[in-house]
Amino acid sequence: MARVQTISDGDFSGKKVLVRVDFNAPVDDSGAVSDDTRLRAALPTINALLDQGAQVILMSHRGRPSGTGFEESYSLAPIAARLGELLDRDIVLAEDIVGPSAQAAIAAMGDGDVVLLENLRFDAREKKNDPEFAQALAALAEVYVNDAFGTAHRAHASTAGVAAYLPAYAGYLMEREVDTLSSMLDTPKRPFVAILGGSKVSDKIQVIDALIEKADAILIGGGMCFTFIASQGESVGTSLMEADWVEQSAAMMQKAAQRGVEFLLPVDVVVADRFAEDAEIQTVSVDQIPADMMGLDIGPETAELYGRVIGGAGSVFWNGPMGVFEMAPFEAGTKAVAYAVAANKDADTIIGGGDSVAAVNKYDLADQMAFVSTGGGASMELVEGKALPGVEALRSE
Ligand code: 3PG
Repeated sequence: MARVQTISDGDFSGKKVLVRVDFNAPVDDSGAVSDDTRLRAALPTINALLDQGAQVILMSHRGRPSGTGFEESYSLAPIAARLGELLDRDIVLAEDIVGPSAQAAIAAMGDGDVVLLENLRFDAREKKNDPEFAQALAALAEVYVNDAFGTAHRAHASTAGVAAYLPAYAGYLMEREVDTLSSMLDTPKRPFVAILGGSKVSDKIQVIDALIEKADAILIGGGMCFTFIASQGESVGTSLMEADWVEQSAAMMQKAAQRGVEFLLPVDVVVADRFAEDAEIQTVSVDQIPADMMGLDIGPETAELYGRVIGGAGSVFWNGPMGVFEMAPFEAGTKAVAYAVAANKDADTIIGGGDSVAAVNKYDLADQMAFVSTGGGASMELVEGKALPGVEALRSE
């Protein structure tokens, strides 16, 4: 398959470079970026281009606006402010994407300047991968770099279409994400332990299916464990359970057994009479979940069991919390798993985006992990074995 060129292959000095980044970062009530991980993750690429004397035109989406034009609450203004601090230079925020404001700002650029276009999704043509919009983006620059791994699973004008009209390169973050996750799947240090949580089996079934072919052990937690527990004939009380997925869950466990993959379900769980921090709480064995209670975390015996398996791993991939870790009474399982992963310094420990990243950040353990992915949906699709449009578009003929 054709190779992807990375920015190490190009010469960007004095060039106008259009860089797709994923600055879809949370903004708090005061209008400030509350987690700048994704901005920091793009800095190596931006700085490398600036060091070469490029003129850097950044573009990103933020959230899911209606696509009918400017909406204050989705503006990239908070992003521009934080990025200016991180880069210690002025960032010019255009008021539009390909319109007069962007064009004037770009025309006025000198080498080493940075312009940020407004939220790409203010224009409905972005998500439709509209060729005219892709061409209008391409017309702003001489070279295109895609560093937006978090959006690489979307075939949009800025992530896919535009690459047809300009010399195209992958940025450092894109390269590192794809390389790290691909080598975990292709040549993992064994035993390879995958920890999967989150609320729904239906969201994760393809990831589980793919990992059964790659991993040596799979540890299940989070709301979705109750569908698996139900598939083994246990009652799960009022826990979240996807009745339509019980059969599939049983089939997954059979497939794992046939392939000799250890597939572990919780042996105990924390249950509550309601979904509330001040609920009545008990820890029970999985075969004793009361009919009127719901499971909201894995129990301490399970945390210990999972911790032992994680401790013996050569590689660990973790996606999805073990319980409702945002609420103190139901955070112990997720916390224990986070600490167990962080403690295994001999393993390649990879946190696969989304809520598990939030958990790792909550316990201040991100820098103890070998790799924390900036892509939730994108890392899942890569693990599922799907081609990522944002990466495929970078392949030269
Ligand atoms: C994300 O946060 O997962 C990415 O930025 C993609 O956002 P989307 O799911 O709105 O396309």
